[in-house]
Amino acid sequence: MKSVAIVTGASQGIGKATAVRLAHDFSAVVLVARSRANLEGTAEAVKRAGSETLVIDADQKIVDQTLTAFGRIDALLNIAGAVPQIDLFEMTDAQWEGGLALKLHGARRLTIAAWPALKAAKGAVVLMSGNSALVPKAPYAAVGTINAAIIALAKAFSGRGISDGVQVNTVLPGPVMTERRRSYLKHWAPLHNMTVEEATANFPKEAGIARYGEPEEIAELMAFLVSPGARWMTGSALRMDGGEVKSI
Ligand SMILES: NC(=O)c1ccc[n+]([C@@H]2O[C@H](COP(=O)([O-])OP(=O)(O)OC[C@H]3O[C@@H](n4cnc5c(N)ncnc54)[C@H](OP(=O)(O)O)[C@@H]3O)[C@@H](O)[C@H]2O)c1
Repeated sequence: MKSVAIVTGASQGIGKATAVRLAHDFSAVVLVARSRANLEGTAEAVKRAGSETLVIDADQKIVDQTLTAFGRIDALLNIAGAVPQIDLFEMTDAQWEGGLALKLHGARRLTIAAWPALKAAKGAVVLMSGNSALVPKAPYAAVGTINAAIIALAKAFSGRGISDGVQVNTVLPGPVMTERRRSYLKHWAPLHNMTVEEATANFPKEAGIARYGEPEEIAELMAFLVSPGARWMTGSALRMDGGEVKSI
């Protein structure tokens, strides 16, 4: 029997690493994002790792296409995110709405659309938050606010999932070296009177960690959360951050 996972944000970074990692555990991995060229690169890596694949543009009917191609959905990993990193006092309503539209409402809508198939398969969902949910800061207020909302949304889904047999958990990565982290460092550098190169070198020490995380490390946690070994885990928000958050 096939097992099918959908990964959003699969064109690069954590989403790409997760899709490639899941190819070892699932017979088909569906890849969603906007950048077709990057998605084709992920698809090649997924196929090399031994899984079938389907590439879907972000604005298409993801659930319908997946069910037409493979007939079931066992795991949904909502990883896409591009919340603007703008100061609280400068961010416009349109910028807030753009961040909410993709990361919160995009994940919410896709999870709801996939829910009947997930329920039928007794599947698992992961939503992507981030440490900023726990330590929101004015220079990137929307990131922390939306990441906190994601944890609440996942908790609400997980409550329904107890009766429907669908697990829903959230992952909070610390600083992982991806394109998004590079854009964050461009924003962070001038706030700390550093060049981007200095900021990139100094940020881990400033954050109280030994090094940046790798996308493949977060992918391992993602794979665990949608594996049989995590079957009794639901409604949890899990940090993987090299020890960045110092509180319990
Ligand atoms: N890196 C970190 O340190 C860190 C820390 C905490 C949380 N996170 C979270 O982890 C997730 C992945 O981050 P990353 O670091 O891997 O970032 P990334 O390299 O920038 O990747 C972001 C992904 O989201 C997709 N995406 C962006 N805008 C989209 C849109 N409008 N519609 C559909 N897809 C869209 C991108 O694909 P296309 O551009 O091809 O559409 C890409 O695949 C994000 O939700 C981020 O907030 C990252």
